[in-house]
Amino acid sequence: MSEKTESETQLHCPYCYNLQEDFESLKSHVLSEHKTEPVPEKEGLILLTVNGESHSVLVEPEWTLYYLLHDRMGLTGAKMFCDRGACGSCTVIMNGRAILSCLTLAIECDRAVIETVEGVAAEQPKLIEKYAEHHALQCGYCTPGFVVTAKALVDKNPNPTDQEIREALAGNLCRCGTYPQHPIAIQDFIRVREGKEDV
Ligand code: FES
Ligand code: FES
Repeated sequence: MSEKTESETQLHCPYCYNLQEDFESLKSHVLSEHKTEPVPEKEGLILLTVNGESHSVLVEPEWTLYYLLHDRMGLTGAKMFCDRGACGSCTVIMNGRAILSCLTLAIECDRAVIETVEGVAAEQPKLIEKYAEHHALQCGYCTPGFVVTAKALVDKNPNPTDQEIREALAGNLCRCGTYPQHPIAIQDFIRVREGKEDV
């Protein structure tokens, strides 16, 4: 999907996430609907592309990318497990790299291209199917982080070895112990993607 220009982006209220036409409309909206909240300053405005859609969003300095995506944009696929960069469950792809959204400030994401597990599921549904087929999940809480990390890996390295897969997933923790199944699911996905198996 092509990126929209700045004038075509969507501007959302930081308090209720209602869509506004422009910055002046947003200020009027906040003054009338959120009287006790500070009126947004232009400084908090960031542009970002999420799963192929351009957004213009006003963010507060302390918001993490996880909070913006999960609590403000309704993209609840990424999970909050440790909130301290230790488990990988909040992983999203930013500008082609798997990153931890709990450790990334939203204000730092101006002009970033973000892909969440929702985008991965839409773009590569077979990867999700292979995870299910090979039982690479039990409770599933960690699974979005694993899947997103795997997607970032195969985008960069279309034919990783099992060792390279394990290294890429080393920052993702699973308390259900599904580790052996991840290389199996990812290698099977690669075979399907390359047309080496019936889809
Ligand atoms: S919730 Fe972000 S690394 Fe654990
Ligand atoms: S499947 Fe339960 S934490 Fe990984």
